[in-house]
Amino acid sequence: MAAKIRLKGVLTVPGDKSISHRALIFSALTKGTNKIHQLSPAEDCQSSIQCLSKLGLQFARIANGQGSSESTSWQVLSPGLDGLKAPENTLYAGNSGTTIRLLSGLLAGQEFESRLDGDNSLRSRPMARVLDHLKSMGASVTFQALDGRAPFTITGKKLRGRHFDLSVASAQVETALLLAGLQAEGETSVKLPSLARDHTVRMFKYLGVPFSKKADGSNSVTKLAKPISEFEITVPSDISSAAFFMVGAACLPGSEILLRNVCVSPGRALVIEVLKQMGANISLLNEREASGEAIADIKVVGSERLGGTTITPEQVAQGVDEIPILALAGACCSGILTVKGASELRHKESDRLALITKNFQAAGCTVEEFEDGFSIHGSRSIEGGSRWLTQLDHRLAMTGQVASLVFNNALEIEETASAAVSYPGFTDDLLALASDHE
Ligand code: S3P
Repeated sequence: MAAKIRLKGVLTVPGDKSISHRALIFSALTKGTNKIHQLSPAEDCQSSIQCLSKLGLQFARIANGQGSSESTSWQVLSPGLDGLKAPENTLYAGNSGTTIRLLSGLLAGQEFESRLDGDNSLRSRPMARVLDHLKSMGASVTFQALDGRAPFTITGKKLRGRHFDLSVASAQVETALLLAGLQAEGETSVKLPSLARDHTVRMFKYLGVPFSKKADGSNSVTKLAKPISEFEITVPSDISSAAFFMVGAACLPGSEILLRNVCVSPGRALVIEVLKQMGANISLLNEREASGEAIADIKVVGSERLGGTTITPEQVAQGVDEIPILALAGACCSGILTVKGASELRHKESDRLALITKNFQAAGCTVEEFEDGFSIHGSRSIEGGSRWLTQLDHRLAMTGQVASLVFNNALEIEETASAAVSYPGFTDDLLALASDHE
């Protein structure tokens, strides 16, 4: 094998994207000034900031001694739920599913008209899974182009609470419905079919948003009687970003990395669990709790060879965004990595099951694609040197860059700029850890 790269060093990846979106959007529940530290620099979170600005929230970076343009601390001034204003033009969510879906929930209870749209990828993603439920609570929605797709207009109404038993374990849908529920008469409760990221209720607890957990596992809210208190929150590092380095280090013998301050809450820990199942040398150090989330430093030491495993349908939602990079762990293991019950991957920024299959096959791997997953046969030596398609999907662009270090020959990656959707600076951070050792 020509590749003798290893990953070595200490890295703090940027703040968690999901938690950042929530800290920004939940600011609308306060009336006053909030502070958010280590906000994700992701383009997706900038989309949330742009949209919320059009609704009357004001955002400013707080200088942190390194020059304010570098700062990841933000001050957010909110007029409160009853002070939001009708946007003068389209709320453009860019590539961000979390922005458009969570804002739909917030806007369902606001008695003005908002038009929401996104880029071509977002326009192709399913919105009915949120909007049909919001309509059942009383909101009015009209689609401008295709049924069930952005662009659409949402006109908030007086909402009625309802119970939702969701068939998809989607944290975005759950959060949108709870945001609507905080503006609805009566009780709104949401039950997911399996564990997914639970940042919303963790943040509700941390911020003092009243909610209850019911005996059937659903989360329930009623109308917010008054704005919640102003808050200050520090966002932990994003495990979905850390995952690229974790898998890279686990697959490259001689590697040793320490990823600091990573959110390891149970609804996000799939990549840790799967790498452990595969026999990776991975340990959590300095485990602690902050801002309502479980946090740890993650140490990964490169293994000679990982083993195969299966990711089950019940596990998928705990790491749905990490499946593309976990496929790389499968590609170099000594067995087979099988993923089942992951049809949600077809509705992400690209059809990730199709792209995983195509890209790894082109690199010389044996991959079988199923409607709801795939099986990848591990190999000690993967040729690479092939074209790697991203379709502007950031997770594919980053997976390709790590795979390029693991395969015998560097990949010809369609583009890498889309990484900025979740992780501007990814390539620099990867190159800073990568070193030759021959
Ligand atoms: C997210 C939930 C997940 C995930 C997305 C972020 C969130 O989507 O894929 O990147 O912040 O709630 P689904 O809720 O559609 O599974």
